[in-house]
Amino acid sequence: MSTPIRPFRTDTDGRLWLLDQRRLPADEHWFELSTVEETARAIETMAVRGAPALACVAALGLARAARTFPDDPEAYAASFAAGLDRLRRTRPTAVNLFVALDEVAAADRSVPPDDVAARRSAAWGAARDHARRDLESCQAIGAHGAALMPDEGGVVTHCNAGALATAGHGTALGVIRSAVFAGKRLRVYADETRPVLQGARLTAWELARDGIDVTVICEGMAADLMRRGRIHAAIVGADRIVRNGDVANKIGTYALAIACRHHRIPFYVAAPWTTIDLAIPDGSEIPIERRADEEVTHVGPTRIVPEAVGVENPAFDVTPAELVTAIVTDRGVFRPDELDAHASEGSPSPGRTS
Ligand code: MRU
Repeated sequence: MSTPIRPFRTDTDGRLWLLDQRRLPADEHWFELSTVEETARAIETMAVRGAPALACVAALGLARAARTFPDDPEAYAASFAAGLDRLRRTRPTAVNLFVALDEVAAADRSVPPDDVAARRSAAWGAARDHARRDLESCQAIGAHGAALMPDEGGVVTHCNAGALATAGHGTALGVIRSAVFAGKRLRVYADETRPVLQGARLTAWELARDGIDVTVICEGMAADLMRRGRIHAAIVGADRIVRNGDVANKIGTYALAIACRHHRIPFYVAAPWTTIDLAIPDGSEIPIERRADEEVTHVGPTRIVPEAVGVENPAFDVTPAELVTAIVTDRGVFRPDELDAHASEGSPSPGRTS
């Protein structure tokens, strides 16, 4: 087994480095983030993506940039507030982003406002702690979910909910990894995931790197494989799961869930508790990011759609709770309708702003 895949790293000098996911699988290129604007652009252009990973990087990026903010307490506070605001406007759907930034903001408020050194250190500590907890959550998700995977057979996944999309190990791919490490013989079918190709480029790269059997399938092919008996379970990640159990995830997830229901194949969602937003009653209220037409109209520099033809490019869709067999979290495995009750039994939902 090679070194574990991580989408970002911090060094002992408190610098923040990012693996550029836009260049995978061709290049493993790392670059440094020092400012809020660099961090925001890295998130918007998907150098880092995946709900938990972009949340970790937003928090770390703000805390790293805080060392460049002025030493005067009032000017520091103004830069910090502007940084929070800028990062909150990067991507709207993944609720983890708001959770992580709220944690850094709370850490900032927990120290005397005149002590800028303490504020910088509190922000960095909170961001690193968020990333550490995310990695632990993914390992717990893997441990809880591995039992749901077949001992042998085909598992389809959509987009990339792997180590690259988290602080490490992954959510959906964390479950697959843990199952394979426990001896299950899985063949993973990775939906290519139009238009940004997270499945073809990223899921395939990271599973192959770990020696896990992975086959890329073109968009829309999963239903045919199900009809031919080659798929025994589906598992995906999530960007936001709301109170009634509806799940926002990469566009195409809903179609996969419908195909699973038709073929009586279990459809699992894996996510850390930070992805659960009990403040929103159902999926109709989840903010869905619309991305640039060029993601659909072009492959690299080449236009593949005629000029002047309309394009739709929502980054996410909502899968209704009734199509979800179970949600695998770091706190255990739940039916979608059990989340709310579990949270009100004394496990408070994290605060968030969106
Ligand atoms: O647009 P992306 O690549 O950020 O979308 C990512 C997904 O939809 C993932 O499935 C989701 O964030 C879960 S990642 C553990």
